[in-house]
Amino acid sequence: MCGIVGYVGNKPAAPILIEGIKKLEYRGYDSAGIALHEGGEVVFQKNAGKIKVLEENIANRKFTATCGIAHTRWATHGEPNDTNAHPHTDESGKIAVVHNGIIENYRALKQFLEGRGYSFRTETDSEILANLIADNYDGDLLEAVRKALIQVDGTYGIAVICKDSPGEVVAARLGSPLVIGSGEGENFVASDVSAILNHTKQVVYLNDRELARVTANGFSVSTLDNIEVTRELQEIEWSLDEIEKGGFDHFMLKEIFEQPIALKNAMRGRLNYEEGTARLNGLQLQIDELLNVDRVIITACGTSWHAGLIGEYMIEDLAGVPVEVEYASEFRYRSPIINDGTLVFVISQSGETADTLAALREAQRKGATGLGICNVVGSTIARETHGGIYIHAGPEIGVASTKAFTSQIMVLSLITLLLARMRRMSLEKGRQVVDAMMRIPDQVQAILDSSSEIKKIAELYMDHDNFLYLGRGINFPVALERALKLKEISYIHAEGYPAAEMKHGPIALIDENMPVVVIAPKDQVYDKVISNIQEIKARNGRVIAIATEGDEDIRRLADHVIYIPKVLYQLTPLLSIIPLQLLAYYIAVLRGKDVDQPRNLAKSVTVE
Ligand code: G6P
Repeated sequence: MCGIVGYVGNKPAAPILIEGIKKLEYRGYDSAGIALHEGGEVVFQKNAGKIKVLEENIANRKFTATCGIAHTRWATHGEPNDTNAHPHTDESGKIAVVHNGIIENYRALKQFLEGRGYSFRTETDSEILANLIADNYDGDLLEAVRKALIQVDGTYGIAVICKDSPGEVVAARLGSPLVIGSGEGENFVASDVSAILNHTKQVVYLNDRELARVTANGFSVSTLDNIEVTRELQEIEWSLDEIEKGGFDHFMLKEIFEQPIALKNAMRGRLNYEEGTARLNGLQLQIDELLNVDRVIITACGTSWHAGLIGEYMIEDLAGVPVEVEYASEFRYRSPIINDGTLVFVISQSGETADTLAALREAQRKGATGLGICNVVGSTIARETHGGIYIHAGPEIGVASTKAFTSQIMVLSLITLLLARMRRMSLEKGRQVVDAMMRIPDQVQAILDSSSEIKKIAELYMDHDNFLYLGRGINFPVALERALKLKEISYIHAEGYPAAEMKHGPIALIDENMPVVVIAPKDQVYDKVISNIQEIKARNGRVIAIATEGDEDIRRLADHVIYIPKVLYQLTPLLSIIPLQLLAYYIAVLRGKDVDQPRNLAKSVTVE
């Protein structure tokens, strides 16, 4: 969730480091800092606030350093002020460290170091690391880091520089992603490739318990147990353009409008119309293994968890396989029952969410086949699963997930189709599903083309402080997801409910000040949802309905109607979500909120 960048090479390090952490600012953004190997000393600058404050603070300092580290922080230990910002140095100022993760035994280590005469300036666990490395330093920085990390319990992705080792950055990881970028006469360290993509596409991902010594001319990787590791360089496919705004006001809006392409990419090469099925070789499962599946568990966090709930409706409905969906943070501490026929899918845009990773590991320890639905290629979850399906949504920068969510649903529908065709679905029905899936990108585009209508509705409701979202069946998770999104980016209190549950409580809240967004496509529960709308109108509530094109009746009841094209029931969420993404976006913008970097949130939550 915090961002790390390290540089060592032949160019001034400061601009490269600042540019790198700016690319990571969406991951965490309450403070930022930089440390450089300058004139035989380690010099640093750090402050609370966004990176532009840091930039202003160093604008007049003429740095010539060609080696340094930088950090953008999302606070875990200690409030986000200047002192607690990274980098942290040891007491003597010789060693500087940037750290993502949490040192769990920091109290014991602090006591140990205090006993050895060290004192501390900050409230962070990361400052302990700097002193622990200094305490182990005997002329070799890599060895000092190795010895220090052996004493540490917890998680870390770190980059370290030392006054006595000019031209060297040491990096290490356990539970927090770290990648090394290889350039010509220069090398990089980063917690996410997007930070260094401007300079190189040749990278090596560190695994847990690995360290790297990085210099201008190369790097070496070894384990905490001091075993040398040989790694092939990997080529990154994402272009820098793909991670920049491309003319849109916000990443979130750009990503909403990228959905037709993202959805095509999620399906590309995976649909077989002739056989009415999906080809998913990435699962790495044989036909008999797929036929043996008698239960599916889906585990994830946040928006990815909502995608899992939609997967539950799809798979049970079409494939007839029982599905359980659980928050990864709960799953990891339960005693889940795993049988031979259980498949465990973990869904994660980033592939780095700490709770999801821990849930995967727990499932695999219990003998489950762990499968990933990830966006970030080479991410930890993608690497640790038995197999999986990349969603291929391209980089998602806006903290509020949009295109990754719909691409996750698309991949879940591919999995559904595969499982269903091996069980009870006929060839004809399979072909109908394939056909319906292939039409989705154009249908999404048609909804996006009516964005100005949705903006007008946002203008009418931007001042309301409460919203209800109602949906039934497969659209209930859509209501949950939309309520979450509105909360996240506009700080409006919003709740999602199954429409029929309204009468068991939320109905008490309904009056002329309560906008209720009702997802009411023409499906098997349409009439019931219409009754719910009548109940709302009887209490003077304001209804914004999402309805199927051609449904004129609903106009007589609802205050506003947003139409979506007719679609196969199980695929409805792929369309019903789109106007609601736009509505949440426009409301947040009209309220003057920072939609791409909402307060207190992080794109990728790599702590528990
Ligand atoms: C954070 C993000 C959410 C995301 C969740 C899970 O809370 O703000 O947008 O849904 O993490 O992230 P993942 O990368 O595992 O999908």
